[in-house]
Amino acid sequence: MIDHSTIDRIMQTAEITEVIGDFVSLKKRGVNYLGLCPFHNEKTPSFTVSPSKGIYKCFGCSKGGNVVNFIMEHEHLSYPEALKYLARKYHIEVDEKEETPEELKQKNERESMLILSGYAQKYFSRILSDNSEGQTIGLSYLKERGIRRDTIDKFQLGYSLDSRNAFTLEAGKNGYKKEFLVKTGLSIEKGDQVYDRFWGRVMFPIHGLSGRVIGFGARTLRADPKAAKYLNSPESEIYHKSSSLYGIYFARQSLVREDKCILVEGYTDVLSFYQSGIENVVASSGTALTEDQIRLINRFTRNVTIIYDGDPAGIKASLRGIDLILEQGMHVRVVPLPDGEDPDSFARSHSSAELLSYISDNEQDFISFKTKLLSENIGNDPVKRANLISEVVRSVAQIPDQIERSVYLQECSRIMDVKEEILFAETAKTRRRKYEQNQRNRNYQPQKPRTIAAQQESTTQKTESRAEEKEIIRLMLLYGDKVFYELQPSPKDTPIPVKVCGFFLEEFENDQLEFSHPVYKLMFSEFQKIWENPDLDCQSYFINHTNPDISRIAIDMIQPAHELSKIHSKQGAYIRTEASMLKKVVPETLISFRSRMVKQLIRDIDQDIKMCQKSGDMDNILTLLEQRKHLDQLRKQLSKDLKRII
Ligand code: CTP
Ligand code: MN
Repeated sequence: MIDHSTIDRIMQTAEITEVIGDFVSLKKRGVNYLGLCPFHNEKTPSFTVSPSKGIYKCFGCSKGGNVVNFIMEHEHLSYPEALKYLARKYHIEVDEKEETPEELKQKNERESMLILSGYAQKYFSRILSDNSEGQTIGLSYLKERGIRRDTIDKFQLGYSLDSRNAFTLEAGKNGYKKEFLVKTGLSIEKGDQVYDRFWGRVMFPIHGLSGRVIGFGARTLRADPKAAKYLNSPESEIYHKSSSLYGIYFARQSLVREDKCILVEGYTDVLSFYQSGIENVVASSGTALTEDQIRLINRFTRNVTIIYDGDPAGIKASLRGIDLILEQGMHVRVVPLPDGEDPDSFARSHSSAELLSYISDNEQDFISFKTKLLSENIGNDPVKRANLISEVVRSVAQIPDQIERSVYLQECSRIMDVKEEILFAETAKTRRRKYEQNQRNRNYQPQKPRTIAAQQESTTQKTESRAEEKEIIRLMLLYGDKVFYELQPSPKDTPIPVKVCGFFLEEFENDQLEFSHPVYKLMFSEFQKIWENPDLDCQSYFINHTNPDISRIAIDMIQPAHELSKIHSKQGAYIRTEASMLKKVVPETLISFRSRMVKQLIRDIDQDIKMCQKSGDMDNILTLLEQRKHLDQLRKQLSKDLKRII
């Protein structure tokens, strides 16, 4: 936890053009700065930085935010990490007193382990380059495998001497404690002796996202079939095999630029691809892909291309993990390699142009690939066919997007020669089961009578009212203080000016309305707290908000994409019009929000009615029908109101 006053100090000190200037070359244009956008490929600059507002915005890819957002986005850091980055840059001491002694100890422990791992990496690299055993055995092995010097340096490869404790002794001499040697797994304690874990091996350091070494993979150079080919660092506080990906640190920028992640199996595959100029490559290091690894990739791109060696057993084993990728809405393609080749050997025996064109020529969509693979040798055996269908449907059912699902089903129906309707029905069934399971896990009770306040608990189709919610927040942010009409309870009373913010806050309170979108909801509740405070400027409060989602949304809203661009005058005119139309726009927005909610409630009730019909639950049906009638009236009333305004 970084305390608020420190965050404020960081935000006040960090100069946005200076921070961004470390990564982007910026030229002054009027009051703003202009450069080539670091988040997408472009030749003419459309990336604008406004020092006065403290924000950046790209008109090409529409990314934008404040100084912390930039660091988060560019360096792929979390919010606190980005703040610490800025604090370091501006020599601001980060006060983290709020941590418990236990947390502090753990953090120091992690830090000590990371420092030791960094030291070990340098040690192994030094042995590889400067020590005679390192050179004659390690270095010549790597050279023989075609790994170039620049690759060795970049990936910080090394060599561990063929001796039981050379590293442990050296580390001890340099003041590294046994405790951390053992905790990182670099050394092993046996009785009162401490030995090296790795000896006589080529060392592949594994880097975390921020580029620090978290563990090692070590390849034996012996022909002895009993020696494990690779020995890896054990699980530790800094290294979790199942959530790291080899190469992620070096690939991260390229993953975004290419909007694609090439997934291979091992260390050498990554190196060979990288050498061939394909940098968006990572390895799962021999295990089936885990959910954490997928999430890690998903931070950079939604497109994954898996390159397999021709071995069919390997392919079948990894099929299961892939449903996890589909479930995240990611797109998976596979490239099978010719028999007997692995990505490493293939990359080495082909030029990079050949490699690239092989990938693009042989890339197949995963679902079609799986369907073809499983369809082989099935013939007309009905049991096998049924299994095939359910296997394929299981994958398709994971895909969140409905249109995508139906495109796949058409394709699969063709490949398997099974009627499309059957696949649709099966998919629907699977999805329903999945949905019900989720609902059950959330303690969902479909028969409970609903109120508008209960609405936000319904998780179905939450996106529905988002457009309205967003519009409400936008109006509050842009025109919160504007009086948009005067309320006159009776002719004798003095008219009461009604401001936009006050209006929404009051209406929501009176009718117990609620937002469903978590961030808009949060913003709305903060409006409740701050808007009457005359010292606070709501806009800058939200722009510099400590919650990065909030500040990003606020920035997008107050800064119509075009404001800094050429069509400024046109947009300005539009804004003036909107400001003068508030009398109409504000109530209209509220009504559409309400009617959207009512429609949603009607949909939910219809669903419940269907369920009750199925189970013959007559009592509930009557209650539900009653509620439905009431909602229908409400809906009609609302659309009448809306017409009156328009
Ligand atoms: N692996 C492992 N432990 C093993 C064997 C394999 O951790 N005992 C992991 C490594 O990350 C390895 C990957 O699985 O890179 C793929 O294994 P394999 O294809 O056998 O090794 P290669 O990377 O091809 O290594 P080489 O080409 O040197 O044989
Ligand atoms: Mn290999």
